[in-house]
Amino acid sequence: MTYACPYCGTALGNHGEDNGDALVCPSCDRVYTDRGGFYDFLGDDAPQNRGVVSLFDAVSRIYETPLWYPLGMRLATGGRSSAGELVERVANRVADEDADTVVDIATGTGLFARRLARDATVYGVDASAEMLRRCVRNARREGVRLELARADAGALPYADDTFDVAACTGALHLLPDPSEALNEAGRVVRPDGALVVTTVVDEGFFGSRTARRTARLYGMRVFSEEEVDALLGSAGFERIETERESSLVTLVARRR
Ligand SMILES: C[S@@+](CC[C@H](N)C(=O)[O-])C[C@H]1O[C@@H](n2cnc3c(N)ncnc32)[C@H](O)[C@@H]1O
Ligand SMILES: [Zn+2]
Repeated sequence: MTYACPYCGTALGNHGEDNGDALVCPSCDRVYTDRGGFYDFLGDDAPQNRGVVSLFDAVSRIYETPLWYPLGMRLATGGRSSAGELVERVANRVADEDADTVVDIATGTGLFARRLARDATVYGVDASAEMLRRCVRNARREGVRLELARADAGALPYADDTFDVAACTGALHLLPDPSEALNEAGRVVRPDGALVVTTVVDEGFFGSRTARRTARLYGMRVFSEEEVDALLGSAGFERIETERESSLVTLVARRR
């Protein structure tokens, strides 16, 4: 699989030594450099939710420690599932799809992507350079191969109908335009492929208005189940499975 220019959609070849390890778009001449383990499709273009992305740049080091992700899981699920259990649940569901290729949208430090890479070739994409740096290090330490890119979830650097499965865990509620991101997921997943999402809905902990208002201060939205279905539907997906623990919903949708 080759990358595609997120600005004009043209397939990108690797231009090798002349440009270091950069990818060059033959149509619009944009150059995407390899930043030591990930191609950078954003460069100096800040994502619309730059505040949120800067927050993840800042917490990348502690993201997988008990100070961050496990704490978030405790809040969202009311202590019903650990991070490790959620990773296994998502990985088992993706494995059921017999996927050869998976794109992990907003892959972060690769917590899910590293596990998914046991069963498929995994492409991870995120807007935060620091989360990706940590992801590169984590993957190397564990001897896992991931194909990583820095890009906005609303403009993915892949061609149409490329992947068997798209995963998007813990991120849809943080994106500036979830509808645009799901449209992009729908574009890069092949027809009849699957989308696996974990996100937060207005039940359990985030059923309280105070919790939702506080979340909003951190750039996080809390969906209703109806909003989730409307977003999926307009991106060409149909929800086929749902598991909810307090505020955390894990859903599978099929691309029509
Ligand atoms: C809570 S983390 C989830 C990471 C990973 N999927 C996981 O479950 O551990 C949210 C991720 O979304 C990424 N993100 C936020 N806004 C983004 C955007 N506009 N485009 C791509 N990634 C974005 C952040 O950089 C961060 O790594
Ligand atoms: Zn281009």
